[in-house]
Amino acid sequence: MPVVIKSRLSSIGGRLTLLYTLVVLVAMALLAIVVMWRLSATFNAEHQRFLRAKTAEMQTDLDDAHGQPGGLLNEIAKETDESDVRQYQARVLSNDGHVLGETPGMRDVLQPGAFLMSPSDPAVMRVRKAGAHVFALATASMRSVGMSAPLQVQIAMDVTRDAKLLAELRRAIWLAFALLTPLLVIAGYFVSEHGLAPLKRIVNAAREVTPEHLSARIPTDPPWPRELDELVMVFNSMLGRLEEAFGRLSRFSSDLAHELRTPLSNMSSSLEVCLLRNRSEDEYREALESNLEECRRLHSLIDNLLFMARAERAAAALQVEALDGEDACQWVIDQQLAAARSQGFGIQLHGNAQVLADPVLFRQALANLLANAIQHSKSREDVRVELRTQADGGAQVEVIDHGVGIDAAHLPYVFDRFYQANPSRRHVDGEGTGLGLAIVKAIIEAHGGSITLDSRPDAGTAVCLHFPSLPQQYRA
Ligand SMILES: Nc1ncnc2c1ncn2[C@@H]1O[C@H](COP(=O)(O)OP(=O)(O)O)[C@@H](O)[C@H]1O
Ligand SMILES: [Mg+2]
Repeated sequence: MPVVIKSRLSSIGGRLTLLYTLVVLVAMALLAIVVMWRLSATFNAEHQRFLRAKTAEMQTDLDDAHGQPGGLLNEIAKETDESDVRQYQARVLSNDGHVLGETPGMRDVLQPGAFLMSPSDPAVMRVRKAGAHVFALATASMRSVGMSAPLQVQIAMDVTRDAKLLAELRRAIWLAFALLTPLLVIAGYFVSEHGLAPLKRIVNAAREVTPEHLSARIPTDPPWPRELDELVMVFNSMLGRLEEAFGRLSRFSSDLAHELRTPLSNMSSSLEVCLLRNRSEDEYREALESNLEECRRLHSLIDNLLFMARAERAAAALQVEALDGEDACQWVIDQQLAAARSQGFGIQLHGNAQVLADPVLFRQALANLLANAIQHSKSREDVRVELRTQADGGAQVEVIDHGVGIDAAHLPYVFDRFYQANPSRRHVDGEGTGLGLAIVKAIIEAHGGSITLDSRPDAGTAVCLHFPSLPQQYRA
């Protein structure tokens, strides 16, 4: 089932379970190894101590017997014969390997060859299994006064009980591993399920968000675990931005339909009226002229829409130049001056700055701002254009008028496409379609800059464009 294994491991829960199980098993294995090692080392030391003590005792016995093996054998027989449970058995050999005496029955379990021969250190020991018993074996070479050759003494200590204890312990540890492993996997599964439960809740909450329910959010009460808190916040603010963009888009579509329908229905109704009966040449001309006017409106609307769509995508294709702000502004002012003069005021230009901008887009933005300023002026005071260089090297272009101003309620929306604070004025004043400021905003954002609008009703409006100082590579 490779597919199943893969999908388990590609899940965080599966990985956590596996890791958790492995870590606990490794910790347990380390503990078991240390315990076993300490215990068998303690037993070993104990056995060695016993064998050394026995060897030393026998040396004393041999010395007491003035080097006669018989005396030593007697002592051995006394110690090992009498007890039922023998702690040790011993054998004495001459230097050439002749058995001089041994604990009765020793030959049946331990042949002389089972011992290491001629060791230099009596502590050197080997452990041997003989039937159901386990022995720790040591060989010592002993000599005493008046002896021509040393004796070899073989001592076997019965360590069956200790060996059994170790074996039991080892079995118990294996059993614990066998039983604990599945338990750990199950526990790990529940722990990771519990830990990941908030993620499932997020998924369920996110499922509620559909185009019809874009206002739904992932609830933040009760609070999420610290690790997920940021994710939820980011997700919710992303939903907020999407909802806003979605709302703007659907408003835009209905506004656009409305904007297109009005001139078209004007045209068709005037044509219908005209066709009701025969008309004079002048009447036909008038009808055609009014239709031509509507056609122009449609044309300029579509031009503006196209322009804005281009400006919104323009960031990559900007033809940024270092413009002399004064020259560029003066060019636009010259275009608009006649309209201002016809209303009885002029346009002043103050200051200068180098502006890093696409010249065509810069002029379009300023032209839209000036058109608004002229259109909404009510006093005969001049409109002012102010150019400034900012501390960070960017440039500011501000257009200030003393017109009707914008009501605070409208301010948040004036940059929206088709939004008009006072639509009834539109047909009186002519060209406005509510796209002017939206275009300016698209242009300034394509430059990486920003726009601010400050307005008080009946006092006037100031719109400020901030053009950033672009990175070195854009400079001329
Ligand atoms: N300088 C201004 N003074 C007063 N109102 C303004 C000014 N500029 C913009 N507005 C208001 O903001 C609205 C949006 O402006 P704009 O996008 O240029 O659209 P339009 O000029 O086509 O109506 C306008 O309808 C107008 O009510
Ligand atoms: Mg306008």
